[in-house]
Amino acid sequence: MGTLKVMISRDELKAKTKELAARISEDYSGMELLLVGVLKGGFMFLADLARELTIDVNLDFISCSSYGNATVSSGVVRILKDIDYDITGKHVLLVEDLVDTGLTLNYLKELFGAKGCASVKVCTILDKPSRRKVVMMPDYEGIVIPDAFVVGYGLDYAEKYRNLPDVCIVCDD
Ligand code: IMP
Ligand code: MG
Repeated sequence: MGTLKVMISRDELKAKTKELAARISEDYSGMELLLVGVLKGGFMFLADLARELTIDVNLDFISCSSYGNATVSSGVVRILKDIDYDITGKHVLLVEDLVDTGLTLNYLKELFGAKGCASVKVCTILDKPSRRKVVMMPDYEGIVIPDAFVVGYGLDYAEKYRNLPDVCIVCDD
């Protein structure tokens, strides 16, 4: 790995998170909302988003991995840890770090829909729309970034750098 350079600062992440939380709080006002963090990457954004919400929510987590190597999604998603709740009739919001090809969330949306929840929507702090392989439009879209491999704010490279407070790009030098 080369040098890490900040692409999206913690202040930008915080401002965008507040904006998304305000919209979500308004849209789900008076409803029962279950936030489902997509592990591992989504843990930091979920923690920040949840603290900015002004409505009551339930929290759960799902962990999945796509077959294939670390940087290329294959479209086949394996559930490593399923949610704990019965989600029948619940409004579910999937909380992700980054939508890349869209394959993971496409699969998760179908899976949750089949479990009989009232609605399934997607919130992501980062989006790389230029990399999509399937149609996947996040209902709450954070910051659009170019096609580059990024780390930090939950995102890893070989399980490293998830704890960085800023989103960084790796530069060869
Ligand atoms: P996809 O949308 O199914 O292709 O996969 C999205 C997931 O792959 C994200 O939630 C990340 O966990 C991971 N991912 C995609 N792009 C990157 C990146 O640039 N850095 C680190 N992880 C990434
Ligand atoms: Mg992820």
